[in-house]
Amino acid sequence: MKFCVTTPIYYINGDPHIGHAYASIAADILARFKRLDGDEVHFSTGTDEHGIKVARSAETAGMDVYKFSDLMSQKFRDLGKVINLSEDDFIRTTEERHIVSSQQLWRRISDDVYMGTYSGWYSARDEEYIPEEDLSDGKAPSGAPVEWMEEESYFFRLSAYQDRLLELYEKNPDFIAPPSRRNEVISFVKSGLKDLSISRSKFDWGIPIPDAPGHVMYVWIDALANYITSLGFPENEERVAEMMANCVHVVGKEILRFHAVYWPAFLMSAGLPLPKRIFAHGWWTSEGQKMSKSIGNVVDPQKTVEKYGLDPIRYFFFREIRFGEDGDFSEKSLQRRISYDLANDLGNLVQRVLAFVQKIGGLRVNYDFIEDERPLFEDSRSLMRKLRVLMDKQDLNGVLGEVWSLISASNKFVDHMKPWELVKDDEDKLNRVLTALCESLRAIAFGVAPFMPSTADKIFDFLNVDGKSFREIEVNFTDQTFRPPFPLFPKE
Ligand code: MSP
Repeated sequence: MKFCVTTPIYYINGDPHIGHAYASIAADILARFKRLDGDEVHFSTGTDEHGIKVARSAETAGMDVYKFSDLMSQKFRDLGKVINLSEDDFIRTTEERHIVSSQQLWRRISDDVYMGTYSGWYSARDEEYIPEEDLSDGKAPSGAPVEWMEEESYFFRLSAYQDRLLELYEKNPDFIAPPSRRNEVISFVKSGLKDLSISRSKFDWGIPIPDAPGHVMYVWIDALANYITSLGFPENEERVAEMMANCVHVVGKEILRFHAVYWPAFLMSAGLPLPKRIFAHGWWTSEGQKMSKSIGNVVDPQKTVEKYGLDPIRYFFFREIRFGEDGDFSEKSLQRRISYDLANDLGNLVQRVLAFVQKIGGLRVNYDFIEDERPLFEDSRSLMRKLRVLMDKQDLNGVLGEVWSLISASNKFVDHMKPWELVKDDEDKLNRVLTALCESLRAIAFGVAPFMPSTADKIFDFLNVDGKSFREIEVNFTDQTFRPPFPLFPKE
């Protein structure tokens, strides 16, 4: 199978923060899961570099806009290393391949494009015109200031796509997820679509429109096109088609409309395939408040990783809330997750089982399970089947829930079977119990691997397992001595 997953491409007007890290980690988890499951994966991320907002930030920084973009884009690339992203492509919208691709997309939609004049309130921070009736106290719904703009502009006949879009949502109920978001989009489209202004002539930090000197593309056209550029548009439309058919765009809820309304309309107009799903995630506040530079509560990914380690943060994001909902990032809740779920449940299980196996001189496998051990063995072998179903719904929280129920079942199994007593008088049972436990540790390691890749690698190492493919779960262990385990989440 082929699988494609994307993050939004990030505006480079400011430093990366934990909100960006979150969107990227979510996509990374989906990509890693599918790779372990044997799929051919294309995972893309990158930076959105054109538009008024970026041009102004460069000006404020007193820098040439190209130099500014290089500098800021690099910060997002570096963030990828800090959070262990496994992207296949990091795309910058200032790259030549992207300019070619966006211009080609423009040509392909040109039957739906006409020239007119736009006048209205523009929010540079949102890079969007705000309808007069949506303003409150003279500001955009996001709280951003707006300015009056009037310019000659190209328009896209979005109004002509209303029925086709509604039909798309109707026929593909999972096109927009989670379902609550879907209803939101449907009522927006039903309320009537206006044609969309898709070019700018008052400034030039954008992709030039073919054969229209003085006009650059509206930044959102060029931004959305990144997804197909990354797949090889325009040269390789075959690849675009096969990857888009199974492509999930992970986006924040505030940019859902661009992805679920404008993007499919552009693709339909261009005669290009639509993605499989747009998944809208929620927003994180920090210690109960909206993250903002003025409050000083913006969570810096690098510092947080230095303090708590990366894997616990990757875990926390997807354990704490259902994917799609809003959450609150607080150090207290993170610390709680680390000490209960990670150190006590997972860390302790691995330690107590493997230290014991080590103590008795290694594992002697015995797969002749009886009623006592078989349920744990079967739960371990069937874990991946359950996770696949949840992952296909992007239910990341559900996946962790399943993995943690196996962890807790395994801990209870140890308590109940008391291997330290079996060692005295029932060697057969002891071997069955430990074999079942090694099986469950291996399944657990695979279950956590997409979320906590380095933690999983440590467990794979302890168990002498490759950790490259879920297929390894079906292979019986052999007699062996393991490397001595060390604590996965040491208490300071
Ligand atoms: N450049 C556009 C996206 C173009 S995609 C074709 C953009 N960039 S952004 O940098 O402003 O935001 C990128 C993503 O970061 C969004 O999906 C947004 O939801 C996410 N987040 C920014 N702050 C966030 C939180 N506090 N919490 C969770 N995610 C948030 O929009």
